[in-house]
Amino acid sequence: MRLGIDFGTTRTVVAAVRGGRYPVASFQTADGFTEYLPGWAAFEEGQLQLGADVAVLPGIPLVRSVKATITGAAPDETVAALPGGRYSALELLTRYLVHVRQMLIDRSNLDIDPGEELEAMIAVPAHASTRQRYLTIEAFSRAGFTVAGLVNEPTAGAIEYARHTLGALSPRSQKRYVVVYDLGGGTFDTAAVSLVDRHFDLLGSEGIARLGGNNFDEVLADLVLEELGRSQEEVGERTYAHLLERCRLAKESLNPSSRRVLVDVAELFPVDQVVVNTSELYQRTTPLIERTLGAVQSILGALVEHGIDPENPREMGAVYLVGGSVQFPAVQRLLRTRFGRKVQLAPQPHAATAIGLAIAADPNAEIFVREVPTRHFGVWREGDLGREKIFDPIIEKRIGDEPQGPVRVERVYHPAHAVGRLRFVECTALGEDGQPQGEVTPWETILFPYDPALADRADLEPFCGGRGPSELQEEIVETYEYTPSGLIRIAIENRTRGYRREYVLGSSAHL
Ligand SMILES: Nc1ncnc2c1ncn2[C@@H]1O[C@H](COP(=O)(O)OP(=O)(O)OP(=O)(O)O)[C@@H](O)[C@H]1O
Ligand SMILES: [Mg+2]
Repeated sequence: MRLGIDFGTTRTVVAAVRGGRYPVASFQTADGFTEYLPGWAAFEEGQLQLGADVAVLPGIPLVRSVKATITGAAPDETVAALPGGRYSALELLTRYLVHVRQMLIDRSNLDIDPGEELEAMIAVPAHASTRQRYLTIEAFSRAGFTVAGLVNEPTAGAIEYARHTLGALSPRSQKRYVVVYDLGGGTFDTAAVSLVDRHFDLLGSEGIARLGGNNFDEVLADLVLEELGRSQEEVGERTYAHLLERCRLAKESLNPSSRRVLVDVAELFPVDQVVVNTSELYQRTTPLIERTLGAVQSILGALVEHGIDPENPREMGAVYLVGGSVQFPAVQRLLRTRFGRKVQLAPQPHAATAIGLAIAADPNAEIFVREVPTRHFGVWREGDLGREKIFDPIIEKRIGDEPQGPVRVERVYHPAHAVGRLRFVECTALGEDGQPQGEVTPWETILFPYDPALADRADLEPFCGGRGPSELQEEIVETYEYTPSGLIRIAIENRTRGYRREYVLGSSAHL
């Protein structure tokens, strides 16, 4: 069976491919039928509990988001938030995805045979590092899925938009661009995607980590505590965690005409419920939502710079709202005030990404996805002895609609050292001096023996910093390949002597 799996910060949603339709999986859980699995992990009674198996009462989930926990982690890094068990980021994610797979087989409405191959199209946030891409693909494979491909989340949203808006993806459609606005539980992402002739290109994206529906829950919890005259410290972590859950449920019941929100606090406090005026809640959440509008504005600005007119409805299809939190009434209201009729709400906002992925997994839909690097990728090299590190930007982040093929970059040089120490990093921006700025994600360091006398050595650390023999005349060639799924393959070769090493960025060992 082919599936689209949206592994989100707070929830995992799955859609299937079924004869031109893309039904959303529903799971039988302790809370009845749900169209998602929570992204939780907890260590309870000596056992790792995951997703739908984590009991909210009485235990507190120790990890409220498996995805947030592994984001930025190296695959073999131990997850500190689960003190009961020692799990690496890769193990934890694999175990979580095994749970997802098992739930699909045992407790979903999809009628999957236990031995059936599950071919999954998966996604990561547009700004995800290469390391996170690698970790995600690797964990899905280890959990028993066949990974059909990895795309950026907003691209999946755009595919879903195109399917029901442009009628069977008509090649004659005039609309060439859509801005996807994805507000989930824990993160916000916005991206411009071009859709011409069933080709989907991610033109550029902006994201705000740690901004989503969870923040609205916190604001509501603050209001409830204020009403009760209590503070977060006073009530303790455990009660606060339960209160957040109650606030989330109350928030999800809101509709645009709700004047008040009732939070059920029986069992937590001596009163049964607390009533909060929605006007107060919306007012306090407005600054958070304003931040997302700023990001959309900068995406629109970038489109203008590339000759695209967002005001022309023939060019710009919509600001398309996906993600569970776009159902929060204040979000839609603010967006409509700012962007007017351009705003369009996905019919199933919580499942739009998963449905888009299922469409991408469907060979009959004939979707073509082309992605551009969404971060700058480069390397800090050793300067001449005693000198500063030099930053070499190898693959630059791009925006615009210039034709883009697979990216392949080569560097050829004659080294001065016995061992090359290459410190890879990704960053969201480059300064005027060409140095990494913004969010910088340090990568692993690769050591390569320039000196042929060291060619077969595994441990090169002791030789670092030393000059190569003065007669060292080696020609070194580095090749970088940016694969369609966003991984970077590196080959370093001593061309003079004919030996090479290959690496996939994200995996710790060289191949
Ligand atoms: N009807 C609703 N009204 C308001 N908020 C809602 C509603 N339904 C779901 N949400 C909120 O949507 C969020 C989950 O959205 P979604 O499933 O898109 O997130 P995610 O994909 O897990 O997270 P992210 O995109 O941040 O990785 C939660 O905060 C949830 O409370
Ligand atoms: Mg999401």
